Amino acid sequence: MEKIKAVFNGSFDALENIKISPFSRAYTFSDSVYEVVPFFNSKAIAYEDHIERLKNSSKSLSIDIDIKNAADEINKLIKSCNSKNGYVYYQVTRGVDLIRSHLYSNSLETETFGYVLPFSFNTQPIKVMACKDQRWGRCDIKSTSLLGNIMSMNSAQKEGCKEVIMHRDNILTEAGASNLFFSVGNKICTPALSNNILPGITRSLLIKELKKSYMMVIEDEYTLADLSKASSAWLTSSTKGLAAISEIVNLDSNLNINDPIFLKCKDIFDNKFFS
Ligand code: PDD
Repeated sequence: MEKIKAVFNGSFDALENIKISPFSRAYTFSDSVYEVVPFFNSKAIAYEDHIERLKNSSKSLSIDIDIKNAADEINKLIKSCNSKNGYVYYQVTRGVDLIRSHLYSNSLETETFGYVLPFSFNTQPIKVMACKDQRWGRCDIKSTSLLGNIMSMNSAQKEGCKEVIMHRDNILTEAGASNLFFSVGNKICTPALSNNILPGITRSLLIKELKKSYMMVIEDEYTLADLSKASSAWLTSSTKGLAAISEIVNLDSNLNINDPIFLKCKDIFDNKFFS
């Protein structure tokens, strides 16, 4: 198998050669932010948006980042990939402690890590489970602290599901690793952005394209009862694109993966970004 290409603190190397300290705060505290940047035909999709979000995530946690350098390294990883389609994972960590300490020193040197993988963007319909959102109150920051997501997604996996749809105080938030959309009549609904939702790049690209095509997109507060009235529902992310939800195992619903509204949205998105 071909070696995975990676970069660690500015040095490009095979992933297997990278050594990290166990006192990296990524390791002890998940004190890191990250991006997943997809590329198609060797060109990053929404590159500037990903760089901007990485900058914002770092700023929210007061992690020093040389954003130009990070952007450069992401570009170089894409160029180094033998495949034209794939994604870059890029992580920025506060640094390495001298000894584990919740309180960090302001003189830590930021640690950066990235790798590139070939990937084919051909998502299959997904079975999901609805569950309570048990995550922290700042899910708008793209942090590597994802235990709430991981616990829920892995419980759902035991019921044959690959994703979850989360709700907090009966209000729908998002999925474990993607944003949620659903259609009711000719309305396309998606939970409005808040501290409880990651501002997904795919979400915002899709909304923009749908509005350009005069489709009715309404960002609002929605409940499970609203979702149960949907004729189609789908998830969006940088690696899934638009993935139809085939079934919500613990919610009465009547979702059609071939619903014309969903197919139209997918068509609009795929024509713009994957052709
Ligand atoms: N996940 N919500 C959550 C919790 C996510 O983890 C993701 C992406 C999204 C969609 O964001 P975007 O469209 O910018 O990819 C929404 C990535 C792909 C991951 O963690 O692998």
